[in-house]
Amino acid sequence: MSDGIRAPVLDGRNLRKSYHLAEQTVQALRGVSLSVAPGEYVAIVGPSGCGKSTLLQLLGGIDAPTGGTVSVLGTELGQLSDRELTHLRLTRLGFVFQRFHLLPVLTALENIELPMAEAGVARAERRERARALLDYVGLADRAAHRATQLSGGEMQRVAVARALANRPAIILADEPTGELDAATGRELLALFRRLNADGATLVVVTHDERLAAEAGRVVPMLDGMITCS
Ligand SMILES: Nc1ncnc2c1ncn2[C@@H]1O[C@H](COP(=O)(O)OP(=O)(O)OP(=O)(O)O)[C@@H](O)[C@H]1O
Ligand SMILES: [Mg+2]
Repeated sequence: MSDGIRAPVLDGRNLRKSYHLAEQTVQALRGVSLSVAPGEYVAIVGPSGCGKSTLLQLLGGIDAPTGGTVSVLGTELGQLSDRELTHLRLTRLGFVFQRFHLLPVLTALENIELPMAEAGVARAERRERARALLDYVGLADRAAHRATQLSGGEMQRVAVARALANRPAIILADEPTGELDAATGRELLALFRRLNADGATLVVVTHDERLAAEAGRVVPMLDGMITCS
């Protein structure tokens, strides 16, 4: 745009989330607004239970807010049907989880192909792209390994490749180094740094100070709110 202002790729406004249990209501988010510009690297930090994962799930359309709105590339998630929301998640967003969530019976290559198959990408194309992505994360020689035959660091790199499969606009990651040792965690940080340098927008929840130090912006949370940094 000529004025230099770039429309956000991700925009959460006044997000609230309450969980109702038998005797108790937990206000996990109490009015959170977060706007992410294209190409940004954002780290969400804060003590356990402050609402980080809840926020990421709302931003990624995995769960619906009790109040407020989330827009991805200008589309408000609350306006979409379940089918449209599923399609948007599959094609616009890539998720990376603390415990990898790979399918154990599938090979590394097949795990990366899966979201492309769900999105209707033709077989030859998805195989080629999955190989290119394995190469990108430095695991070209592990294509035929089942998920259970990979190390934790390798599993997480396959999970990152899977998150990239449908060329998402935004990568959302929840504690991606949480299960990794220090050396393997550093490899993942280097991969995220390269991803961001290659243009990816990253929103990462983390306890890892090294990861937060890599991000272009740190968003501190406390007790269901974003606090000033
Ligand atoms: N499904 C749920 N049902 C009821 N309460 C929930 C649910 N999910 C989260 N909560 C509560 O909401 C609050 C925020 O949880 P959340 O998982 O977002 O925290 P977090 O910042 O990610 O913590 P951690 O760093 O430990 O992962 C917590 O008090 C938690 O107990
Ligand atoms: Mg969490």
